[in-house]
Amino acid sequence: MPFDKELINWYLENKRDLPWRATKDPYRIWLSEIILQQTRVEQGKPYYFKFLDAFPDVFSLANASEEEVLKLWQGLGYYSRARNLLFTARHIAFELGGKFPASYRELVKLKGVGDYTAAAISSICYEEAQAAVDGNVYRVLARIFGIDTPTNSSLGIKQFRNLAQDLISKKDPANFNQALIEFGSEQCKPRNPLCSSCPFAAKCVAFNQNRISELPVKLKKLKVRKRHFNYLVYISTEGKTIMNRRRGKGIWEGLYEFPLVETTSEAKLENLIAEAPADYSVMEKEPVLFNDSPIVHKLTHQHIFTKFWIVECSKLPEEALPITEINKLPVPVLIENFIDTFDF
Ligand code: ADE
Repeated sequence: MPFDKELINWYLENKRDLPWRATKDPYRIWLSEIILQQTRVEQGKPYYFKFLDAFPDVFSLANASEEEVLKLWQGLGYYSRARNLLFTARHIAFELGGKFPASYRELVKLKGVGDYTAAAISSICYEEAQAAVDGNVYRVLARIFGIDTPTNSSLGIKQFRNLAQDLISKKDPANFNQALIEFGSEQCKPRNPLCSSCPFAAKCVAFNQNRISELPVKLKKLKVRKRHFNYLVYISTEGKTIMNRRRGKGIWEGLYEFPLVETTSEAKLENLIAEAPADYSVMEKEPVLFNDSPIVHKLTHQHIFTKFWIVECSKLPEEALPITEINKLPVPVLIENFIDTFDF
């Protein structure tokens, strides 16, 4: 049986009943795919529901503030995806009259919509035969066809995309794409794949050559950068604190955090005070360290070693806000966890 047929048969028998599979509404498919690039299905579902609840269509999302969108996105990480989501919703609502572009070529021009997302939307919503290649697809194809080109090399990206494009069902691209992703996620899993019940076991190169754990091949990432963050958690007698919005192109753009002192190595009280910026150096009492050993927050390319310093004081500048309000602000998970455990 041809590969596409066999795969779609497997899918029709084994697919999970997922909320975005009951629709072809491009807004919903777009939203689900952007969320699923960021997290697994089970963690993604509540976000999908929360977004649809708050913003049932592209117009309501377009009319949201960046802060609302970041708050709903909170916990998913990689916040530029959320900002791009809003940017593109506004573009579609206000410049395209609310009409979603209806082809791969037009979709891929949208901000935050790459090759994968454009292929997913155009195949699922418009039956266009464009292969959507994600991490699951790399794994399935690398194993079945025995391909050891690194999946994150430019040659690998082309090779896997061409193979998927050759294999895709021209009659049913929507199910084919979803089937390949589902197969990677549920059957051809990264660890302990279910080879004994796999319909492709007889032809699978990795299975027959005992190379399952070797494939797919991925080039090693660059070294991670270590950073040392010190947050000054002011608490005034009036029950206020200070939070700043992060600016610039770095991590967590647009999210809020306590005043930050970044040091080149793990800070002790003396170098914290020496390196604190002028506006925050007015400390009546010495900061008290909340966590003795740094909390390590791991991002893709950097590890953030974090200390929270509690600074009690009598009065704070104008921009201080009541501690009861801080839960409304979009914050990085690192800060959210602190707020939850510190219990002001
Ligand atoms: N991962 C990415 N897209 C997906 C989808 N549509 N269904 C399940 N998992 C996915």
